Amino acid sequence: KILIVDFGSQYTQLIARRIREMEVYCEIVPLIDVEKIKNGTEPVKGIILSGGPASVYEENVPTVDKAIFDLGLPILGICYGMQLITHLNGGKVEKADSREFGKAILEVINGENPLFKEIKKTSSIWMSHNDHITELPEGFEIIAQTDSSIAAITNNNGIYALQFHPEVVHSECGTEIIANFVFNICKCERNWKITSFIEEKTKAIKEIVGDEHVLLALSGGVDSSVAAVLINNAIGKQLTCMFVDTGLLRKDEGKKVLEYYKEHFNLNIVFVDAKDRFLNKLKGIDEPEAKRKIIGHEFIEVFNEEIRKLKGQEGAKFLAQGTIYPDVIESQSIKGPSHTIKSHHNVGGLPEDLKFELLEPLKELFKDEVRKVGHELGLPDTIINRHPFPGPGLGIRVIGEVTPEKVRILQEADDIFINALMEEGLYGKVDQAFVTLLPVKTVGVMGDQRTYEYVAAIRSVNTIDFMTATWSKLPYEFLGDVANKIINNVNGINRIVYDISSKPAATIEWE
Ligand code: XMP
Repeated sequence: KILIVDFGSQYTQLIARRIREMEVYCEIVPLIDVEKIKNGTEPVKGIILSGGPASVYEENVPTVDKAIFDLGLPILGICYGMQLITHLNGGKVEKADSREFGKAILEVINGENPLFKEIKKTSSIWMSHNDHITELPEGFEIIAQTDSSIAAITNNNGIYALQFHPEVVHSECGTEIIANFVFNICKCERNWKITSFIEEKTKAIKEIVGDEHVLLALSGGVDSSVAAVLINNAIGKQLTCMFVDTGLLRKDEGKKVLEYYKEHFNLNIVFVDAKDRFLNKLKGIDEPEAKRKIIGHEFIEVFNEEIRKLKGQEGAKFLAQGTIYPDVIESQSIKGPSHTIKSHHNVGGLPEDLKFELLEPLKELFKDEVRKVGHELGLPDTIINRHPFPGPGLGIRVIGEVTPEKVRILQEADDIFINALMEEGLYGKVDQAFVTLLPVKTVGVMGDQRTYEYVAAIRSVNTIDFMTATWSKLPYEFLGDVANKIINNVNGINRIVYDISSKPAATIEWE
């Protein structure tokens, strides 16, 4: 595998995606355990040092153990990674007079270099940096440049560094350059396949779990469904799925999920009606992070209580979750160099004294990979292609304080919007769509009556990885029809707005 050390760049995940798309396994890590690599417990073929917002010459900035340069492994530094390689090997990095941001033209000086094998002599690339190299480390040479900076260097002995970002689509030959590193230089093989993932995981789950019992929080979303079926295939009746109705689900969601899984997958499901508990705890709370924490915490509480009621399952040792890779990375950032934007429900909010061990079989997968696993396991498209639904559910889609009445209004409106998308064949063309209820009332008129009711926002985005997203260009006609339908049918809403912000600078959810 390839290890990618994360120094906090927004693009780190893209590097991982590019490599996985080449059917090569890679992981993003906060640091490198040199000993593990040396003694062979971690079979690594190459290391990539990512970009990041820091400056290598400042104090307390993220770095790596210098010993990685003596491992004899190929290393590729990107942007900050390049500057770090330079800095740690005796070269000099300084603040540039002007920031270089955006497109630039790459000129390959040494086409013989394996990193640039079959790469065009000139191509466009994506730059984003404040600092630049003013002195090369000893033994390094420049192998590519732009008209204003050094674009690529190597020591001709396995260490390579790029000032630009080959992982973003704006770098014309970026994918080929990464492929050259992965295949020509690291000598990786294409062996990361979904079917082999399923086989390996099934075996690993059996081994880890042994005779113990596993409890899984089934939400009905893609991730927990795929996790449930995967674990069920491995250990069958040792798995109990618990479906908690938090009262913050979509309209009739609980009922539908329950019927479906019992019928098709013979899952052992326990249904817990905890609506009142969640809604009571949320009374008077309007701060988004506080709401997230309460919901996450309440979840675990409910679990701890319910598990005692389950005959023969008192001793469940494992708590299985459908955590996927982007969740892990966004939450890992609490300790790592990139900023935490939101604490995600799947990973955040777990109390320290948690009595379960976590079983997270999908932890290494991106969403599209999870879908492929689900498909292989025979889950239907209606579940696999479902838009993601956040763990805290409608709790973060009722902006501000959550009340049962507001949840009811939102459920009705959301149901109308989603059904309309499906009827018009638009559901599959957007990646996440939902309604958010705003804590704002406005004046309207219905018949001859004055109304004073809530505003709801329709949101629909297109995205590949949910890290960045653009608003969906839904047809005006369609939006108009949906707005009419909601206003005419949902008591409590008299105005609809369409959210036309992208991420960044907005996020997908409003809270
Ligand atoms: P944002 O709002 O951060 O959302 O742009 C990105 C994706 O993550 C989902 N999301 C969550 N999922 N727990 C989850 O399981 C959460 O706390 C949470 N917050 C946001 C969001 O729906 C979108 O798909």
